[in-house]
Amino acid sequence: MSAELLLEIRNLKTYFFTYRGVVKAVDDVSFTVGRGEAVGLVGESGCGKSTTAYSIIGLVPPPGRIVGGQILFDGMDLTKFSDSELRRRIRWKRIAMVFQGAMNAFNPVRTIGDQIVEAATYHLNITKAEALDKARQLLELVGLDPNLIHRYPHELSGGMKQRAFIAMALVCRPDLLIADEPTTALDVVVQAQIINLIKRLQQELKMSLILITHDVALTSEIVDRVVVMYAGKIAEQGPSDILFTKPQHPYTQGLISSIPRLHNPEKITWIPGFPPDLVNPPKGCRFHPRCPHTMPICREKEPPEIELGPNHYVYCWLHARR
Ligand SMILES: Nc1ncnc2c1ncn2[C@@H]1O[C@H](COP(=O)(O)OP(=O)(O)O)[C@@H](O)[C@H]1O
Ligand code: SF4
Ligand SMILES: [Mg+2]
Repeated sequence: MSAELLLEIRNLKTYFFTYRGVVKAVDDVSFTVGRGEAVGLVGESGCGKSTTAYSIIGLVPPPGRIVGGQILFDGMDLTKFSDSELRRRIRWKRIAMVFQGAMNAFNPVRTIGDQIVEAATYHLNITKAEALDKARQLLELVGLDPNLIHRYPHELSGGMKQRAFIAMALVCRPDLLIADEPTTALDVVVQAQIINLIKRLQQELKMSLILITHDVALTSEIVDRVVVMYAGKIAEQGPSDILFTKPQHPYTQGLISSIPRLHNPEKITWIPGFPPDLVNPPKGCRFHPRCPHTMPICREKEPPEIELGPNHYVYCWLHARR
C-alpha cells in the first residue's frame, strides 16, 4: 500500500467561467496515485470527474481553467507547464487517456495501422517500419489480431475499436493511464471484457491507472483505492475493500447500496434528488439537501477532512462529532 507516489493532486480547483456564472467543477480536490496503483474516481454525472482528468493532462476546454492547486507528477508541477511542454514531455508519452467514445476518435478514412503508426512516429524516434512492427505488437497485446492494421475503423466492432484505441494509448508505455468512462456505449459483456483488459494491462505493464466511472460496480474488482466525488469535491476516499464493505460517508453509502446484488436484487435504494448546480452549490456540506443525516452545522460549515484509518478519509460532520 505504501507505493511510491507518482501523482499527487493538491487542492486542485478548476472552474468554468460561463455566462451563467462560475462553475466550480473541481473545487479543492486532493488525492494521490502510487506507482503501479489503480485508483477509481467515481460519482454521479457532473461531479467533476472528467474535469479532474482533463486538468491532469492539461486539456481543460475553454471557458475552463485551473485556478488553484498543484498537480505533482513524478515531482514536477504540471500546472506550471506550458501547453507545448505538456505536449512534448507528458501527454501521451507519460500520461495517456482513453476517454468516453474514444473508439469514435479514429479517422474513418484511414486504416487502424496507419493511425497507430502515425502516433508512434510522432511520439517516438522510430522509423515507419519499426512503428508498423510496434502497431502489430500493440494490437496483439490488447487481444486483437495484428492483421487488423490493414482494416478501416468501420470494419471493427465497438469493442474492437475501443481495444485498438487502448493499443494506441499505450504506444509510449505511459506511466499513467487515465480511462474516463471507457466502456460507456458498449454492451454489458463487452464492458466487462474491456475492464478486464485494462486491469490486465495495468498489471502487466506495471502502469498506474485512474479509472473514472459513474458506475461504481465496474470498479469494485479492479481498483486498489476509490476516490468518491460529489459536486466538485471529494466525499470519501479509501482502500476499495473498506469503501465497498463499510462506506462511511452518507453519499458513498447511497452509491454502494444502489449496486444491484445477486442475493437481494430488489433491495436497490438510491439517493433521492439531484446533484446541485455548481454555479451556486449549497452552503456548508454540498450534499446536505440530499443527506438523510443532515444536522444544523451541515448547512453552515464545510465538513473537515477526518482520517478514519490508513489512507481512509471522509469529509462529513457525522464523523467529526465522534
Ligand atoms: N466545457 C464546459 N463548459 C462549462 N461547464 C462545463 C464544461 N465542461 C464541464 N462543465 C461543468 O463542470 C461540471 C463537471 O463536469 P464533468 O467534469 O464533465 O463531470 P463528470 O465527468 O463527473 O460527469 C458540470 O457541472 C459541468 O456542467
Ligand atoms: S456533513 Fe452532514 S449533510 Fe454532509 S454528508 Fe455528513 S451528515 Fe450529511
Ligand atoms: Mg465525465
